[in-house]
Amino acid sequence: MKVTVVGAGNVGATCADVLAYREVANEIVLVDIKDGLAEGKALDIWQKAPIDLYDSRTIGVTNDYAKSANSDVVVITSGLPRKPGMSRDDLIGTNAGIVRSVTENVVKHSPHAIIIVVSNPLDVMTYQAHITSKFPRARIMGMAGILDTARYRAFLSEALNISPKDIQAMLLGGHGDSMVPLPRYTTVAGIPVTELMDSDKLTAILERTKVGGGELVKLMGTSAWYAPGSAAAQMVEAIVKDQRRVFPVCVKLEGEYGIKDCYLGVPVVLGKNGVEKIIELDLNESEKALLESSRAAVREVMDVLEKLG
Ligand code: NAI
Ligand code: 2OP
Repeated sequence: MKVTVVGAGNVGATCADVLAYREVANEIVLVDIKDGLAEGKALDIWQKAPIDLYDSRTIGVTNDYAKSANSDVVVITSGLPRKPGMSRDDLIGTNAGIVRSVTENVVKHSPHAIIIVVSNPLDVMTYQAHITSKFPRARIMGMAGILDTARYRAFLSEALNISPKDIQAMLLGGHGDSMVPLPRYTTVAGIPVTELMDSDKLTAILERTKVGGGELVKLMGTSAWYAPGSAAAQMVEAIVKDQRRVFPVCVKLEGEYGIKDCYLGVPVVLGKNGVEKIIELDLNESEKALLESSRAAVREVMDVLEKLG
């Protein structure tokens, strides 16, 4: 299996590293526009192989997509990250141009690939990759929900003093402050979280989750990379190994949840064909209303992208 990661910055290099040490693919190509950056990071990842005992080979290239030819999966992380005071949406103009040109190269060299977008604003950059590639929706998706639920699960783990391994959660909507974490679908080893935590504490955790990305930007002056890189790698693994895992993934809705022509996070089954199935939850009225506000927030930014042409 061959996987290409475009963008050898914080998120892309972390993703390539996880793919290598977990031996998700035997061939990993890291691409960046900055001279030598991808080559250097790939060499560093390869030199870790004798220590961490893996044989997946990572190579780095500067904008040379011929080396990425016939990739099974391509992860797009190229683009500016958030700085303090910026929202994900502030990145739209610059990152749309980057995602467009990267996607053109992906289509040219890996026409059968499954594309996972990570660049922000996530839902709208996934839409951009769709506009450029015209790939069927099963092969174009965005990573955000695994990261957002991981943050939610980590906060719950800490508050309950229970292993994160036993905390399961689901979340819907866009990758922004309007995301919709779902307490009704959150369990601890099968026990509804509402039986283990009072509602004030749970509400505080839900609110912290919604601004989880911003919390890290404030602390570090740039956005996160360890959890985002691992989250993208987990999606690649589910596809490459045809695991049929269920994750919240940003995908084009064509009537599911009563929503059309919008990229939003929903639970899907991920397997060798990409998005194998979209799972429709039976939402209550308040969950439906939250999903509708998230849809409207994402639609507004999709409209901005359309106006940019
Ligand atoms: P970074 O600045 O560390 O890395 C970005 C890399 O992209 C740089 O090395 C840059 O040279 C490269 N690049 C720029 N234009 C390129 C092009 N045309 N072709 C190839 N490479 C190009 O940024 P970081 O932290 O890795 O973040 C990357 C993106 O991922 C940002 O847009 C960020 O907002 C987003 N992000 C999304 C998350 C999500 O949950 N979806 C989570 C974290 C970050
Ligand atoms: C994050 O959530 C900024 O999207 C990035 O960390």
